[in-house]
Amino acid sequence: MGLIEGLLSASPDLQRIYVVVREKKGLAPQERLVRLLSSEIFNHHAADVKAKVVAVVGELTAENLGLSEEILREIRENVSVVIHNAGLIKFNRSLREAVTMNVLTTLRCIELAKSLRNLSAFIFSSTALANSNISGRIKEEIYKTKRSPREMIKLALETPSTIDKEVKIRSDLIEGQQNTYCYSKQLAENLILEEMAGLPAGIVRPSLVYGFYKHEIPGWMGSSQSGHCGLIRIMVKGAGRSMYGDPKSVYFSCPCDHVVNAILVLAVAVGTHPPSAKAPEIVHVSNNVEVNPVRTKDMVRYLNEEAWKNPCDSYAFLPRCKIRNGLRADFYFLAMYVMALFFFIPERIFPISPPWMRSFHLVELQRKARIYFTEISSCITDLSLENAIKYTKNLHPEDAQKYSFDPSDVDYRKLIASSISWII
Ligand SMILES: NC(=O)c1ccc[n+]([C@@H]2O[C@H](COP(=O)([O-])OP(=O)(O)OC[C@H]3O[C@@H](n4cnc5c(N)ncnc54)[C@H](OP(=O)(O)O)[C@@H]3O)[C@@H](O)[C@H]2O)c1
Repeated sequence: MGLIEGLLSASPDLQRIYVVVREKKGLAPQERLVRLLSSEIFNHHAADVKAKVVAVVGELTAENLGLSEEILREIRENVSVVIHNAGLIKFNRSLREAVTMNVLTTLRCIELAKSLRNLSAFIFSSTALANSNISGRIKEEIYKTKRSPREMIKLALETPSTIDKEVKIRSDLIEGQQNTYCYSKQLAENLILEEMAGLPAGIVRPSLVYGFYKHEIPGWMGSSQSGHCGLIRIMVKGAGRSMYGDPKSVYFSCPCDHVVNAILVLAVAVGTHPPSAKAPEIVHVSNNVEVNPVRTKDMVRYLNEEAWKNPCDSYAFLPRCKIRNGLRADFYFLAMYVMALFFFIPERIFPISPPWMRSFHLVELQRKARIYFTEISSCITDLSLENAIKYTKNLHPEDAQKYSFDPSDVDYRKLIASSISWII
């Protein structure tokens, strides 16, 4: 949503934005788009500006993105920028699913980009976690996978049961990565390297994305629950009271408006100065150990303090999150499960709360969220920001006001406060 709004605001000359949308929860693609455009963030755009956004029915895993012949022809003739921002952001999915949703979709988008009459930029939203198997400072370059992305796509499509069985037996199949999500993003980057040589391509690698920061329109990020936004929600509601990791480690994170800015800046950069080099341009969108190195313990403190300042309508428990590791965490969860036992029978006899608010479910959610989301933040040692700083420094002062993604500007307490404000 923020990206579409960002595109409309940044480029008045833009004639059309085609958004590939699929049906979801009984809502047709066009209905989903109408809902999206009725959000208050689009209020300042006139009806004719909003009309530039067109929903096209599709599915990114399908050949030609599942688009009709007519739409495909129109797109090939008129579109010059492809932004592939879709993805499966789940850390616990099978390798088959991760490869299908994050690598095959990238292949389909590349195929479309290459079939355009006039391609000026192809931008892919990857993640700073794509290289969780690299120790030390991660550079803004592509780290080669041992297996080829096409081979992995073939495996996922042709032998789905083998690929899933194999990953359980041989964790080396994900090449030392933290999980299948990280590996699938690394594979997708490798695919771009192989397929887009000499073409204008860019890759944006955000770390953990939080709410909007500088953007003046409230609700700019909508009600996203993906990634850490979902974690904030359960913490603010008191359902998540435990985090994992080294309290002193750097917490790699960024505001979502920085991600949108990075996509826009990179699209213009690769579009106006086609790279002579064979590799795509890459930028990290994040802080690092030198630039604004906020600590995990400080993020947790901001979260607790800001949650109390902005009370919600409903709570599972009062929000008070702590970093717990080892035995301390084991005892905590044991105590939580015992407490949940007391509510187990009454909750079934008097089903006042919905299943997702019942005690056992909440403890389970907390335990899983703690592992999936907070462990991941400790698998990166450092990120290079060389390209990111180069691009932001090269911006015209007027553009820098609007499109900067310089992490040194971020006040993390303010970022947490603004992220919480849309939840309550
Ligand atoms: N959130 C983070 O903290 C974070 C951090 C680093 C990188 N990223 C990357 O940033 C990108 C956007 O993330 P997000 O947080 O905005 O994710 P999100 O809220 O889950 O949105 C992902 C979108 O992709 C669409 N999509 C997924 N598979 C599709 C398919 N096969 N066909 C059509 N549409 C499909 C989904 O459509 P439906 O609505 O129909 O499901 C959804 O609208 C992802 O590539 C992610 O890896 C995110």
